Amino acid sequence: MGAKIAPSILAADISSLHNDVSAVVKAGAEILHIDIMDGSFVPAITFGDNIVAALRKRLKEEEQVDITLDVHLMIENPQKHIETFANAGADIITVHYEAVPYADKLIEISNEIRSFGLKSGISINPQTPVSAIADIIPNFDLVLIMTVVAGRGGQKYINDCTVKITEIAEKFDVLIEVDGGVNLDTITIPAEAGADILVAGSAIFGKNDIGAAFVELENKL
Ligand code: DX5
Ligand code: ZN
Repeated sequence: MGAKIAPSILAADISSLHNDVSAVVKAGAEILHIDIMDGSFVPAITFGDNIVAALRKRLKEEEQVDITLDVHLMIENPQKHIETFANAGADIITVHYEAVPYADKLIEISNEIRSFGLKSGISINPQTPVSAIADIIPNFDLVLIMTVVAGRGGQKYINDCTVKITEIAEKFDVLIEVDGGVNLDTITIPAEAGADILVAGSAIFGKNDIGAAFVELENKL
């Protein structure tokens, strides 16, 4: 099975969020990536659980689609907010290793995410090696490899991170997601390395024809 593209609403027009999301849903998107930033773990502040709940409700009612809501928590103290995001309608919740660099805590967090029937994810920033999380990868459903430093969209794909994808694909039976700088020029690199989910923000929502941008990216796979 080929990789799937997850449009990141970070680059969407928030004043008409539903229109932008509708466009990617109609183009065939099955996963929507939602970046939660707290102004502390990363400098910017983005959305809260209300956005997740609003999207879940409207997508179900109006588009009648059960799209996978992929919540990327770039926040301190993620454990405090898991239940809230689960109740809001998340399907995947991913936390950062750098926010909680303790194996026992991370296993506890994964178990808590799974207790709500969701998939659990662990993310590493470009400067963090795979060895930092290797022991606990089997406790998670997904590993999110950041290919830019977490915190903002529109950055350049860091090619040094590609080896992490290959390494995880070879050693572990886990979903691999890649986030940052994925566009028409770079998308085949993580896809060929073994990524299952490719997040793309500015390469989709930054374009005039959002649906066409999604399809064009997909055609590269
Ligand atoms: C960055 C976010 C990404 C962001 C990617 O910290 O985690 O999901 O939306 O944006 P692009 O695709 O523009 O690099
Ligand atoms: Zn993200």
